[in-house]
Amino acid sequence: LDARIVLDPERTIGTVDRRLFGSFVEHLGRAVYNGIYEPGHPTADERGFRADVLALVRELGVTTVRYPGGNFVSSYRWEDGIGPRSERPRRIDLAWHSVETNEVGTDEFAAWARDAEVELMLAVNLGTRGIEAAVDLLEYTNVRSGTHFSDLRAANGSPEPYDVRMWCLGNEMDGPWQVGYTDADSYGRLAAQTARAMRRVDEELELVLCGSSKPTMPTFGQWERVALTHAYDVVDYISCHAYYEELDGDRLSFLASGVSMDRFIDAVAATADQVRAELSSAKVMQISFDEWNVWYNRRFHREDKITDPHEWPYAPRLLEDQYSVVDAVVVGGLLISLLNHSDRVRAASLAQLVNVIAPIMTEPGGPAWRQTIFFPFADAARMSGSVALDLRIDSPTHGTELYGEVNTVDAAATLDATGGISLFLVNRSEHPVTVAIQCGGDGMTEILEATGIWDDDPTASNTLEAPERVGPQVNPTVRIESGALHAVLPPISWTAVRAS
Ligand code: AHR
Repeated sequence: LDARIVLDPERTIGTVDRRLFGSFVEHLGRAVYNGIYEPGHPTADERGFRADVLALVRELGVTTVRYPGGNFVSSYRWEDGIGPRSERPRRIDLAWHSVETNEVGTDEFAAWARDAEVELMLAVNLGTRGIEAAVDLLEYTNVRSGTHFSDLRAANGSPEPYDVRMWCLGNEMDGPWQVGYTDADSYGRLAAQTARAMRRVDEELELVLCGSSKPTMPTFGQWERVALTHAYDVVDYISCHAYYEELDGDRLSFLASGVSMDRFIDAVAATADQVRAELSSAKVMQISFDEWNVWYNRRFHREDKITDPHEWPYAPRLLEDQYSVVDAVVVGGLLISLLNHSDRVRAASLAQLVNVIAPIMTEPGGPAWRQTIFFPFADAARMSGSVALDLRIDSPTHGTELYGEVNTVDAAATLDATGGISLFLVNRSEHPVTVAIQCGGDGMTEILEATGIWDDDPTASNTLEAPERVGPQVNPTVRIESGALHAVLPPISWTAVRAS
């Protein structure tokens, strides 16, 4: 099988916003407690944060972190998480049926984000609360001093404001599982009013309106149109959320999940553009794909739910998917889709970061390790240049149950400031594919790096017992001939190449 790709440094899609490589930490299971935070762990700092986890977060190359939810935010009282720890209430968390001790709140997380060298992106509760709580939190995080909440922040140990730029107006408000979920009309009004009030504090904030929780929601499309009609002028982004899993052994469809993400992004952009036309607005609505990953959701709904009204566990093991090589290749395909839409998707969050459907796992008192999906994400975050290129891909195709005929090879490429090219490729089939990549201009002269993920056993994963079973390998077949790059992509594989 042969694929041919043509790239031209002059044919660009748009600039790649570094926020494309964001992630997400929710108060859920062991993401925060016994995840990033574990006082008493041998590597914990004086605040209780694990240094080994921080090191892996930095290595992953995450740029932003969305916090504190997710479903959790829709019944969260942010004031519970500030001030002296001994006075913070233990609350029931309705989203995940756990106890929320509030040991970690806004100040602790902002300090962690600073140490992790990531931008903090906050979500406000539009489930059980509304405009007032959102504006109070904004005052707490962003106003310099001389007001109730800004002085409270200083009294709590942070005299400098956090200056949080990006804010999510609620979370998945279209989903019946969401506390306080509602219809698009009511949500659109509340979100627009909240946005207007927040802009009275700071006109320059970047605000994200909730889009659909997934493209298969019965209200998909209509939700975006109605909510945007209310809020178009006062928000900057509409969100997309999507999770992918292998269903009923249909591996080929699962491997082609990038096709589904492509269609989802295109549909949301088209809907936003329709609203733009109806409102005669000059503004182009951007997309924040602020939850995406592989998630064995069906398994969660069958097995992992805790429903005993008297049992509110601390840091239960929830949504702890163990990822395989196949999952890593799917994540690579989703990164390719995001890069190929970088003119429209200006921010994205891999959901999530630690322990909960995560690239990084930890054991209480023990080690932290990289799951398979860590590697494609780290490659893309580290190797992507500042401009995405518009590729012409001529690939063999194969049939899939869910998406019909799909390209066997998918790819994205970027250009950096020095003219260096980065290529990201997935082989979504169970056969090797030979690929030739021609480059306009002067062509390519040198391979700086050629790495990837594949394995004789595509179900292999990294575990506590074998944390390095799967890791990046050099692809020895990558070579340059007459300015073109040639490679053999192993079956079910992710490949990342840097060339000059
Ligand atoms: O990331 C896990 C959950 O998935 C989030 O809390 C929610 O927003 C989504 O449904």
